[in-house]
Amino acid sequence: MVLKNKNILIGVTVGIAAYKAAELVSTLRKMNANVRVIMTKSAAEFVTPVTFQTLSGFPVRHELFTDWSKNFIPHIENALWADAVAIVPATANIIGKIAHGIADDLLSTTIMACEAPVLFAPAMNERMFKNPIVQRNIRTLKDLGYYFIEPAEGRLACGEVGKGRLPEIDTILWHLEYVLSKKDFAGIRVLVTAGGTREPIDPVRFISNRSSGKMGYELAEALSKRGAEVVLISAPTELEAPYGVELVKVETAQEMYKACMERFDGVNMVIMCAAVADFEPADYSREKIKKDSGFENIKLKRTPDILSEMGRLKSQQFIIGFCAESQNLEENAERKLKEKNLDLIVANDITKNIFGSDTTSIIILDASNNKLKYDGVSKKEAAHIILDAAVKGYRRRMGLEA
Ligand code: C5P
Repeated sequence: MVLKNKNILIGVTVGIAAYKAAELVSTLRKMNANVRVIMTKSAAEFVTPVTFQTLSGFPVRHELFTDWSKNFIPHIENALWADAVAIVPATANIIGKIAHGIADDLLSTTIMACEAPVLFAPAMNERMFKNPIVQRNIRTLKDLGYYFIEPAEGRLACGEVGKGRLPEIDTILWHLEYVLSKKDFAGIRVLVTAGGTREPIDPVRFISNRSSGKMGYELAEALSKRGAEVVLISAPTELEAPYGVELVKVETAQEMYKACMERFDGVNMVIMCAAVADFEPADYSREKIKKDSGFENIKLKRTPDILSEMGRLKSQQFIIGFCAESQNLEENAERKLKEKNLDLIVANDITKNIFGSDTTSIIILDASNNKLKYDGVSKKEAAHIILDAAVKGYRRRMGLEA
């Protein structure tokens, strides 16, 4: 979503990983980003400019002194066009040149002229990467606000194994989205919960619910891209932990309660998106219960209400709860907002098939009775909508906004 309609300039420098840049360009185009590519002269020895030209739909150049006409000065035009630049792969040479202000070909002059964020994805032999000169140049550039992706570990083109591989395309895309996102959550530590807890009956059976965890994971990912420090306390899900997020895995409501309480004092915001089971078996059976005995006698007891406890204990924390209802959605949401001492509540109408789906319908309510309604939005979009409301409320609470 962040990359849609964005102008992404890809700089390709030499290395066996240059072919992966072709895959990146192709993926970006599929995501409806506009892509241009500038290669260095040596990179063109590895992958032909025609490949990138075909994938990006735009002429690919490396020379500084071609294509100049009255209205087209390539390095300036490209630098102004780009919303973000990614150097994939980035050699020690391009890192060194930019760190020292050397601009002697189309790529280096473009970077020098560019005010958009620039992301380097270094890929080289581990010894080269660890060289103190390269490390110093990376530090210099980071201090100046340039972004870097750590190379991945694995088998390198030279046959050695070490840290120097170009990271996976998904990792590069994550970083591109990161550099393009507003950082309105910088300095804010957020606890997010996700998924449906499981309350064991015996070693093989449990009580749970239909929560897929998608909404909570989208929130954690969006938060991390917007600069928050995120701890995600997750009940079992099929999902992968979002990049840059501290993941704490739990299973039961009791475990989630403990994990939340241990971290509550240290956070500025809580987003309680998990579908915490309301009941747990009163007695756990160590032995598998036989199907012809015992089930009719399973007794249930209430789990701790984590959100209510946080509402009771809260000091600086801005607390956001969720409520899933099949009837009287707004009335129930308003009541829970007050009863649980929340700052914001997100109400889901579960008659609209939201469980496991990639879309949702939400109503966001705050304590001053402000109401926002969104029907049939993707959970990715919903995450950003919820965070926009959250950061606004948080800043107001902190006296940073009227
Ligand atoms: O009262 P209700 O269960 O509808 O409230 C839902 C909200 O409370 C959600 O934010 C959910 O994560 C949280 N909750 C909780 N502990 C429970 C049950 C729900 O924190 N035991």
